[in-house]
Amino acid sequence: MPAALHIQQLNKHFANGKHALRDINLTVQPGEMVALIGASGSGKSTLLRHVAGLAVADASSESLIEVDGRCVQRAGRIHSNIRSVRSQVGFVFQQFNLVDRLPVLMNVLVGMLHRTPWWRGWLRMFKPHERALALEALGRVGIAECHAQRASTLSGGQQQRAAIARTLVQGAKVVLADEPIASLNPESSRKVMEILARINREDGCTVIVSLHQVDMAVRYCPRVVALHQGQVVYDGPSAALTPALLRSLYGVHADEILADTATAVPSIHPVVPIATPAQAPQWSPAMVQAA
Ligand SMILES: Nc1ncnc2c1ncn2[C@@H]1O[C@H](COP(=O)(O)OP(=O)(O)O)[C@@H](O)[C@H]1O
Ligand SMILES: [Mg+2]
Repeated sequence: MPAALHIQQLNKHFANGKHALRDINLTVQPGEMVALIGASGSGKSTLLRHVAGLAVADASSESLIEVDGRCVQRAGRIHSNIRSVRSQVGFVFQQFNLVDRLPVLMNVLVGMLHRTPWWRGWLRMFKPHERALALEALGRVGIAECHAQRASTLSGGQQQRAAIARTLVQGAKVVLADEPIASLNPESSRKVMEILARINREDGCTVIVSLHQVDMAVRYCPRVVALHQGQVVYDGPSAALTPALLRSLYGVHADEILADTATAVPSIHPVVPIATPAQAPQWSPAMVQAA
């Protein structure tokens, strides 16, 4: 089985000269749930956008990003087949990205557009079984009763759950969530993380979720990839990510991602049973690189 995600020698310089991603090499196996952590500005969004083919890497012959064995971009060029790869990748944004004035159900059905003839999508003619699938997805994220409401009338947590339902009907194999809980209160944050963990466990979706702070990463994700100034400074089990290690990786910058959790981290254990990845990664001390 191909890796869910394979990134090789990824570098990104923005037009202003900012070197936002540095020599990223990363492989994620199908069925893993991985947290991408790092202070703001460390490159989390930039990395996820490259994986989704929404941003283009520096042109270097060795640079490669593949999802489920299919090329997203190589050597700084987006692959011509990007549309079919994108249909496999669900993207969940911090700000939900729903169409405010459309009903929730319609927002979820949008996830199906890649397999619906354009004119049916355009006329908003979805078939009964498609509507049933969308309703079922809304049921799974716990907001079926809101299906007829305009998206703008939902709370932030409910909107984010609708956005996850959209990736469910899309049939995405890989879900990329970019700080999905950054705008939510603690209770909604917990629900959203539990739903992501559940689709990982029940649907076998590979989930890569960027998080600003480390406590949620440790709680829900067996594996953590930590970025610092565009570099991977840690890739390993979340259980090993103690405040002491974080301080050694991040130095004076550790406080931003530890926030109020410094005392809580050692006592946190995963609250959900974790699915065993199809091919568990082999951890080794060599994977823990110095900052
Ligand atoms: N379009 C852009 N042009 C120039 N610099 C950018 C652009 N987008 C992001 N950056 C810079 O790249 C770095 C990484 O940004 P980002 O990926 O958004 O970090 P994070 O998501 O971890 O907060 C930051 O220094 C940011 O200012
Ligand atoms: Mg970001």
